[in-house]
Amino acid sequence: MAILQILEFPDQRLRQVASPVTSFDEALEVLINNMLETMYEANGIGLAATQVNVHQRLLVVDVSEEKESPQVFVNPKFEVIEDELSEYDEGCLSVPGFYETVSRPKGIRVFAQDKQGNSFELEVEGILSTCIQHEIDHLDGKLFVDYLSPLKRSRIRSKLEKEQKASK
Ligand code: NI
Repeated sequence: MAILQILEFPDQRLRQVASPVTSFDEALEVLINNMLETMYEANGIGLAATQVNVHQRLLVVDVSEEKESPQVFVNPKFEVIEDELSEYDEGCLSVPGFYETVSRPKGIRVFAQDKQGNSFELEVEGILSTCIQHEIDHLDGKLFVDYLSPLKRSRIRSKLEKEQKASK
């Protein structure tokens, strides 16, 4: 397994819309394992392929305390089943160090495939619902900072750009 490099805002590659996964092969399995390892190593609860510069519709999540319940969603879509909003202080491995409150629908039904290509459906709410919606946004080139005011977003952008310059 390998730790992958995570792209950071405002990297334009995070804005690319991902394509559906069509090959359920060994390369996909390797990518999934590397994404899980990368997510755990970075103490994240979710990671989308877009964030590691692979523009395929794939994400991994683990919202468990013990970090031993990985979930894989290939070609995920969702519909809202409970449109009451939940608020969470969201963070993102691509926006390191920043947490801001975002509102999203509380309950969703997720339609996806597993790593072998088998379709499944799952009803989720709470933190898992928020996390999956956040990760699916990545596949569409969206980031949680897009939900914030332009002023807040540009402050985050300039702080991160400064840090990125300093670390080069
Ligand atoms: Ni994120």
